[in-house]
Amino acid sequence: MGKILAVVSQKGGVGKTTTAVNLGAAFARRGLKSLIVDVDPQGSVRYGAGLRKGHTSYGFADYLRGERSLRDVILPTALPWLRVMLVGSVTDDADHSRYAEQIAEGDLLPRMLATAAERCDIVVVDTPPGLGAITRRALASSDRVLVPLQCEPLALQTTPQILRGIQDVVTHHPSLTFDGILLTMFEAGNAACERTAEYIRTHVPPNLVFDLVIPRSAAVSDAFAAGQPAVLRAPADAASQAYVNLATRLAERFSR
Ligand SMILES: Nc1ncnc2c1ncn2[C@@H]1O[C@H](COP(=O)(O)OP(=O)(O)OP(=O)(O)O)[C@@H](O)[C@H]1O
Ligand SMILES: [Mg+2]
Repeated sequence: MGKILAVVSQKGGVGKTTTAVNLGAAFARRGLKSLIVDVDPQGSVRYGAGLRKGHTSYGFADYLRGERSLRDVILPTALPWLRVMLVGSVTDDADHSRYAEQIAEGDLLPRMLATAAERCDIVVVDTPPGLGAITRRALASSDRVLVPLQCEPLALQTTPQILRGIQDVVTHHPSLTFDGILLTMFEAGNAACERTAEYIRTHVPPNLVFDLVIPRSAAVSDAFAAGQPAVLRAPADAASQAYVNLATRLAERFSR
Protein backbone atom coordinates (compact mmCIF):
# COMPACT_ATOMS: atom_id res chain seq x y z
CA MET A 1 0.00 0.00 0.00
CA GLY A 2 1.24 3.46 -0.89
CA LYS A 3 0.95 6.49 1.35
CA ILE A 4 -1.63 9.24 0.93
CA LEU A 5 -0.20 12.68 1.74
CA ALA A 6 -2.63 15.60 2.04
CA VAL A 7 -1.31 19.16 1.60
CA VAL A 8 -3.52 21.35 3.76
CA SER A 9 -3.74 24.87 5.13
CA GLN A 10 -6.45 27.04 6.64
CA LYS A 11 -5.04 29.97 4.75
CA GLY A 12 -5.13 30.44 0.96
CA GLY A 13 -2.20 31.24 -1.31
CA VAL A 14 0.48 29.75 0.95
CA GLY A 15 1.96 27.34 -1.61
CA LYS A 16 -0.18 24.20 -1.23
CA THR A 17 -0.56 23.56 -4.95
CA THR A 18 3.08 24.46 -5.64
CA THR A 19 4.12 22.01 -2.90
CA ALA A 20 1.79 19.23 -4.10
CA VAL A 21 2.93 19.51 -7.70
CA ASN A 22 6.65 19.76 -6.95
CA LEU A 23 6.60 16.98 -4.38
CA GLY A 24 4.65 14.74 -6.76
CA ALA A 25 7.23 15.36 -9.49
CA ALA A 26 10.16 14.95 -7.08
CA PHE A 27 8.78 11.61 -5.80
CA ALA A 28 8.28 10.43 -9.39
CA ARG A 29 11.84 11.43 -10.29
CA ARG A 30 13.04 9.17 -7.47
CA GLY A 31 11.25 6.33 -9.26
CA LEU A 32 8.25 6.28 -6.93
CA LYS A 33 4.96 5.68 -8.68
CA SER A 34 3.14 8.91 -7.86
CA LEU A 35 -0.29 10.38 -8.37
CA ILE A 36 -1.25 14.00 -7.71
CA VAL A 37 -4.96 14.32 -6.95
CA ASP A 38 -6.60 17.75 -7.07
CA VAL A 39 -9.77 17.97 -4.98
CA ASP A 40 -9.75 21.79 -4.89
CA PRO A 41 -12.54 23.15 -7.12
CA GLN A 42 -10.22 26.04 -8.06
CA GLY A 43 -8.41 23.36 -10.08
CA SER A 44 -4.94 24.95 -10.08
CA VAL A 45 -3.04 21.68 -10.44
CA ARG A 46 -3.92 21.54 -14.12
CA TYR A 47 -1.81 24.63 -14.79
CA GLY A 48 1.42 23.45 -13.21
CA ALA A 49 1.64 19.68 -13.25
CA GLY A 50 3.34 19.15 -16.60
CA LEU A 51 0.38 17.48 -18.30
CA ARG A 52 0.80 16.46 -21.91
CA LYS A 53 -0.64 18.79 -24.54
CA GLY A 54 -4.26 18.20 -25.52
CA HIS A 55 -5.13 16.46 -22.25
CA THR A 56 -8.76 16.17 -21.19
CA SER A 57 -10.00 18.49 -18.46
CA TYR A 58 -12.21 15.83 -16.88
CA GLY A 59 -11.32 14.85 -13.38
CA PHE A 60 -12.44 13.76 -9.95
CA ALA A 61 -15.72 15.74 -9.96
CA ASP A 62 -16.77 14.03 -13.18
CA TYR A 63 -15.96 10.63 -11.64
CA LEU A 64 -17.95 11.67 -8.56
CA ARG A 65 -20.97 12.45 -10.75
CA GLY A 66 -20.68 9.06 -12.41
CA GLU A 67 -19.89 10.64 -15.77
CA ARG A 68 -16.33 9.35 -16.14
CA SER A 69 -14.50 6.21 -15.04
CA LEU A 70 -11.37 6.35 -12.88
CA ARG A 71 -9.32 5.22 -15.85
CA ASP A 72 -10.59 8.24 -17.88
CA VAL A 73 -9.48 10.76 -15.26
CA ILE A 74 -5.96 9.50 -14.53
CA LEU A 75 -3.78 11.51 -16.87
CA PRO A 76 -0.18 10.92 -17.97
CA THR A 77 2.52 13.58 -17.62
CA ALA A 78 5.95 14.13 -19.09
CA LEU A 79 7.34 11.86 -16.32
CA PRO A 80 6.73 8.13 -16.67
CA TRP A 81 6.07 7.65 -12.94
CA LEU A 82 3.83 10.67 -12.48
CA ARG A 83 0.08 10.67 -13.09
CA VAL A 84 -2.40 13.42 -12.32
CA MET A 85 -6.09 13.46 -11.46
CA LEU A 86 -7.52 16.90 -12.06
CA VAL A 87 -10.54 18.12 -10.13
CA GLY A 88 -12.47 18.27 -13.41
CA SER A 89 -15.34 20.28 -14.79
CA VAL A 90 -16.48 21.57 -11.39
CA THR A 91 -13.93 24.37 -11.98
CA ASP A 92 -16.33 25.79 -14.60
CA ASP A 93 -19.18 26.08 -12.07
CA ALA A 94 -19.65 29.30 -10.14
CA ASP A 95 -21.12 27.39 -7.21
CA HIS A 96 -19.13 24.45 -5.81
CA SER A 97 -21.53 23.57 -3.01
CA ARG A 98 -23.05 20.52 -4.73
CA TYR A 99 -19.54 19.12 -5.32
CA ALA A 100 -18.67 19.67 -1.64
CA GLU A 101 -21.93 18.00 -0.55
CA GLN A 102 -21.32 14.99 -2.78
CA ILE A 103 -17.89 14.55 -1.20
CA ALA A 104 -19.16 15.04 2.35
CA GLU A 105 -22.17 12.74 1.99
CA GLY A 106 -20.70 9.89 -0.05
CA ASP A 107 -17.67 7.65 0.26
CA LEU A 108 -16.28 8.00 -3.25
CA LEU A 109 -13.33 10.18 -2.17
CA PRO A 110 -12.03 7.70 0.45
CA ARG A 111 -12.69 4.80 -1.92
CA MET A 112 -10.91 6.49 -4.81
CA LEU A 113 -7.90 7.36 -2.61
CA ALA A 114 -7.72 3.82 -1.21
CA THR A 115 -7.76 2.39 -4.75
CA ALA A 116 -5.08 4.87 -5.82
CA ALA A 117 -2.91 3.93 -2.82
CA GLU A 118 -3.13 0.26 -3.82
CA ARG A 119 -1.65 1.12 -7.20
CA CYS A 120 0.83 3.87 -6.34
CA ASP A 121 3.69 4.42 -3.92
CA ILE A 122 2.57 7.95 -3.10
CA VAL A 123 -0.66 9.86 -3.63
CA VAL A 124 -0.34 13.62 -3.04
CA VAL A 125 -3.67 15.38 -2.46
CA ASP A 126 -3.97 19.11 -3.13
CA THR A 127 -6.84 20.59 -1.11
CA PRO A 128 -8.78 23.88 -1.10
CA PRO A 129 -7.85 26.50 1.51
CA GLY A 130 -9.57 26.06 4.87
CA LEU A 131 -10.71 23.06 6.84
CA GLY A 132 -14.09 22.72 5.16
CA ALA A 133 -15.95 19.55 4.20
CA ILE A 134 -13.73 18.68 1.23
CA THR A 135 -10.47 19.03 3.15
CA ARG A 136 -11.81 17.21 6.22
CA ARG A 137 -12.92 14.29 4.06
CA ALA A 138 -9.54 14.23 2.31
CA LEU A 139 -7.78 14.23 5.69
CA ALA A 140 -9.98 11.43 6.98
CA SER A 141 -8.78 9.34 4.02
CA SER A 142 -5.08 10.26 4.25
CA ASP A 143 -2.12 8.76 6.10
CA ARG A 144 -0.07 11.94 6.37
CA VAL A 145 -0.59 15.69 6.35
CA LEU A 146 1.80 18.50 5.55
CA VAL A 147 0.96 22.17 6.20
CA PRO A 148 2.68 24.86 4.12
CA LEU A 149 2.94 28.19 5.90
CA GLN A 150 3.97 31.32 4.06
CA CYS A 151 6.72 33.32 5.77
CA GLU A 152 4.80 36.57 6.20
CA PRO A 153 3.66 38.47 9.28
CA LEU A 154 0.04 37.31 9.01
CA ALA A 155 1.31 33.80 9.74
CA LEU A 156 1.93 34.93 13.32
CA GLN A 157 -1.79 35.40 13.84
CA THR A 158 -2.90 32.29 11.96
CA THR A 159 -0.39 29.72 13.28
CA PRO A 160 -2.14 28.97 16.61
CA GLN A 161 -5.40 28.53 14.73
CA ILE A 162 -3.74 26.24 12.17
CA LEU A 163 -2.15 24.12 14.92
CA ARG A 164 -5.49 23.82 16.73
CA GLY A 165 -7.22 22.80 13.50
CA ILE A 166 -4.62 20.13 12.75
CA GLN A 167 -4.66 18.91 16.34
CA ASP A 168 -8.43 18.59 16.11
CA VAL A 169 -8.24 16.60 12.88
CA VAL A 170 -5.44 14.32 14.11
CA THR A 171 -7.41 13.65 17.33
CA HIS A 172 -10.38 12.55 15.25
CA HIS A 173 -8.26 10.45 12.88
CA PRO A 174 -5.62 8.63 14.92
CA SER A 175 -4.23 6.93 11.80
CA LEU A 176 -3.26 10.33 10.37
CA THR A 177 0.34 11.46 10.99
CA PHE A 178 1.15 15.16 11.02
CA ASP A 179 4.40 15.47 9.07
CA GLY A 180 4.91 19.11 9.92
CA ILE A 181 4.67 22.74 8.98
CA LEU A 182 6.64 23.67 5.87
CA LEU A 183 7.81 27.29 5.72
CA THR A 184 7.35 28.54 2.17
CA MET A 185 8.34 31.61 0.15
CA PHE A 186 11.16 32.32 2.59
CA GLU A 187 13.20 35.40 1.70
CA ALA A 188 16.60 35.66 3.38
CA GLY A 189 17.30 39.29 4.25
CA ASN A 190 13.61 40.22 4.48
CA ALA A 191 13.23 41.22 8.14
CA ALA A 192 9.48 40.49 8.39
CA CYS A 193 9.95 37.10 6.80
CA GLU A 194 12.91 36.21 9.03
CA ARG A 195 10.98 37.33 12.14
CA THR A 196 8.07 35.13 11.15
CA ALA A 197 10.28 32.07 10.67
CA GLU A 198 12.00 32.80 13.99
CA TYR A 199 8.64 33.12 15.78
CA ILE A 200 7.39 29.82 14.35
CA ARG A 201 10.60 28.05 15.37
CA THR A 202 10.43 29.36 18.93
CA HIS A 203 6.69 28.75 19.44
CA VAL A 204 6.13 25.45 17.66
CA PRO A 205 7.84 22.23 18.84
CA PRO A 206 10.78 21.40 16.53
CA ASN A 207 9.33 18.04 15.51
CA LEU A 208 6.31 19.88 14.09
CA VAL A 209 8.25 22.22 11.75
CA PHE A 210 10.60 21.14 8.98
CA ASP A 211 14.05 22.69 9.40
CA LEU A 212 14.21 22.80 5.62
CA VAL A 213 12.46 25.88 4.15
CA ILE A 214 11.25 26.60 0.61
CA PRO A 215 12.81 29.87 -0.58
CA ARG A 216 10.83 32.38 -2.59
CA SER A 217 12.04 32.01 -6.14
CA ALA A 218 10.97 33.40 -9.50
CA ALA A 219 11.80 29.99 -11.00
CA VAL A 220 8.86 28.49 -9.06
CA SER A 221 6.24 30.94 -10.28
CA ASP A 222 7.77 31.00 -13.79
CA ALA A 223 7.61 27.21 -13.97
CA PHE A 224 3.95 27.28 -12.92
CA ALA A 225 3.22 29.86 -15.62
CA ALA A 226 4.98 27.58 -18.11
CA GLY A 227 2.81 24.64 -16.98
CA GLN A 228 5.56 22.62 -15.30
CA PRO A 229 6.79 21.77 -11.82
CA ALA A 230 9.93 23.78 -11.00
CA VAL A 231 11.77 20.60 -10.00
CA LEU A 232 11.62 19.59 -13.66
CA ARG A 233 11.92 22.96 -15.38
CA ALA A 234 14.60 24.48 -13.14
CA PRO A 235 16.19 21.61 -11.20
CA ALA A 236 19.21 23.68 -10.12
CA ASP A 237 17.05 26.37 -8.51
CA ALA A 238 17.25 26.58 -4.70
CA ALA A 239 13.49 26.12 -4.25
CA SER A 240 13.49 23.09 -6.58
CA GLN A 241 16.35 21.59 -4.61
CA ALA A 242 14.48 22.22 -1.36
CA TYR A 243 11.46 20.35 -2.75
CA VAL A 244 13.70 17.48 -3.91
CA ASN A 245 15.29 17.29 -0.43
CA LEU A 246 11.86 17.38 1.19
CA ALA A 247 10.69 14.52 -1.05
CA THR A 248 13.79 12.51 -0.08
CA ARG A 249 13.12 13.08 3.59
CA LEU A 250 9.44 12.20 3.34
CA ALA A 251 10.12 9.10 1.23
CA GLU A 252 12.55 7.89 3.92
CA ARG A 253 9.97 8.50 6.65
CA PHE A 254 7.21 6.78 4.70
CA SER A 255 9.30 3.67 4.12
CA ARG A 256 10.06 3.19 7.83
N1 LIG B 1 8.57 29.26 -3.42
C1 LIG B 1 7.86 30.13 -4.15
N2 LIG B 1 8.49 31.17 -4.76
C2 LIG B 1 7.80 32.07 -5.50
N3 LIG B 1 6.47 32.02 -5.69
C3 LIG B 1 5.79 31.01 -5.10
C4 LIG B 1 6.44 30.01 -4.30
N4 LIG B 1 5.50 29.15 -3.85
C5 LIG B 1 4.34 29.59 -4.35
N5 LIG B 1 4.49 30.69 -5.10
C6 LIG B 1 3.44 31.48 -5.79
O1 LIG B 1 2.51 31.90 -4.81
C7 LIG B 1 1.19 31.84 -5.33
C8 LIG B 1 0.34 30.92 -4.45
O2 LIG B 1 0.87 29.60 -4.54
P1 LIG B 1 -0.09 28.33 -4.61
O3 LIG B 1 -1.09 28.47 -5.70
O4 LIG B 1 0.78 27.14 -4.63
O5 LIG B 1 -0.81 28.47 -3.20
P2 LIG B 1 -2.08 27.68 -2.65
O6 LIG B 1 -1.90 27.55 -1.19
O7 LIG B 1 -2.27 26.43 -3.42
O8 LIG B 1 -3.26 28.70 -2.99
P3 LIG B 1 -4.84 28.38 -2.85
O9 LIG B 1 -5.13 28.45 -1.39
O10 LIG B 1 -5.49 29.47 -3.64
O11 LIG B 1 -5.06 27.02 -3.40
C9 LIG B 1 1.32 31.33 -6.77
O12 LIG B 1 1.33 32.46 -7.62
C10 LIG B 1 2.67 30.63 -6.78
O13 LIG B 1 3.29 30.65 -8.05
MG1 LIG C 1 -3.96 25.72 -4.42
